[in-house]
Amino acid sequence: MDASVRRRLDHRPYAAAVLLGLSLAALLLAGVLPSLRMALLLAAFACAFTGGSLALWRLRRETRERRSADRERRVAEARFGNIVEAAMDPIVTVDDAQRIVVFNGAAEQVFGHARTDVLGQPLDVLIPERFRDVHRAHVAKFGETGTTSRRMGASVLRALRSDGEEFPIEASISQHVDRGRRFYTAIVRDVTARVEAENALRRSKEEMQQLGAAANATREQEKSRIARELHDELGQLLTMLQMDVAWCKDRQPADDAAFAGKLDRMEALLRTTIAATRRISSDLRPLMLDDLGLVPSLEWLVENFAQRTGIVCDLTIAERDLALTKSHATAIFRIVQESLTNIAKHAKATHADIVVECDGDALVVRVDDDGVGFSAQSPRKPHSFGLFGLRERASLIGGTVAITSVPGEGTSVELRVPREALAERV
Ligand SMILES: Nc1ncnc2c1ncn2[C@@H]1O[C@H](COP(=O)(O)OP(=O)(O)OP(=O)(O)O)[C@@H](O)[C@H]1O
Ligand SMILES: [Mg+2]
Repeated sequence: MDASVRRRLDHRPYAAAVLLGLSLAALLLAGVLPSLRMALLLAAFACAFTGGSLALWRLRRETRERRSADRERRVAEARFGNIVEAAMDPIVTVDDAQRIVVFNGAAEQVFGHARTDVLGQPLDVLIPERFRDVHRAHVAKFGETGTTSRRMGASVLRALRSDGEEFPIEASISQHVDRGRRFYTAIVRDVTARVEAENALRRSKEEMQQLGAAANATREQEKSRIARELHDELGQLLTMLQMDVAWCKDRQPADDAAFAGKLDRMEALLRTTIAATRRISSDLRPLMLDDLGLVPSLEWLVENFAQRTGIVCDLTIAERDLALTKSHATAIFRIVQESLTNIAKHAKATHADIVVECDGDALVVRVDDDGVGFSAQSPRKPHSFGLFGLRERASLIGGTVAITSVPGEGTSVELRVPREALAERV
């Protein structure tokens, strides 16, 4: 009933009393009523009659309202029940003793229990034995917090099907108090398929990483073999040839200028060929990386880079005493090499800083330039694998690479390898 109408009806007894008083006074004055006593008698009778009918009317109204409220609540409960029943996700409600009082159709399908079998049963039937105590305590604690609803557990939880199979779930829990009793409702999601897909993806990523590591190692071995053969075999043969030319020059006829010119050209050609062989060999893989280690190789790489490109380079090696495995030394060397190649190819830089230092518990190798920079957010260019390879190599030795670049403000490539990762054999 409308509130204003109800207010008006509630004023009715007073209005009726005033009206009755006025009418009786008028009748008394007009002489229709013989005495005041008669008037008071009539008034008392009228009041009792009006009061009685008003009380009766109010009782009927309240009964009608209560019935209508009950009807509305039953309709709402039925509607709520239908929604719970039609929900795609399992919904399970337990009472304050953690006994199941609601178990919808989706719950029947996922848990494999018939509703009639679990209603009234402890929630434990849906939870693997080893988690039951913890779970019970969590639900009770949730009740004490007074929080209306929240996600259950930080990650995936385990549940139990009727056939004893465990499966992963995600769940949210809410609580409400109905007629003095506390109820907890969990909306559950069976995430078996998702967890399996995640596991498969993780396995495949690990396999890809192992494959990448094996491919890298094979490539490095191959490069190392070719570099050594170029250096040792071809280099030595060319040096012998150079000595032969020198022998010929010592014995050349004094008056044959054409012969002398030919020998000079042969000597120059041999010098160029020896230099080219050394360059190709070190570009493939500097043999000093295997023979002398990372620090001399970096010194050679940076000096060579500065000579070839004209970019001024500052190499700071704060940590020289690096006991690195061959694969760590190779990965770090290749990361610096690719960063320098990128500077030469893209940066238009005039200056580059290369730093090797220890920061807390990590070895840090940084290559900064003052070039044109690029937007690090832009998607990877097709067929560009350099930066991708940096990250891949870093993760293979247990490290990470951070690439920071702002257009117009240069680029910084920072490799960070924790000390414990350096100690591992890769
Ligand atoms: N130091 C740098 N300065 C400016 N731009 C850079 C720098 N390093 C990388 N870039 C930009 O990032 C892109 C991706 O670099 P990445 O090394 O992955 O590929 P790439 O050098 O083009 O090719 P690849 O290394 O496969 O031969 C480059 O094309 C370039 O636009
Ligand atoms: Mg590159």
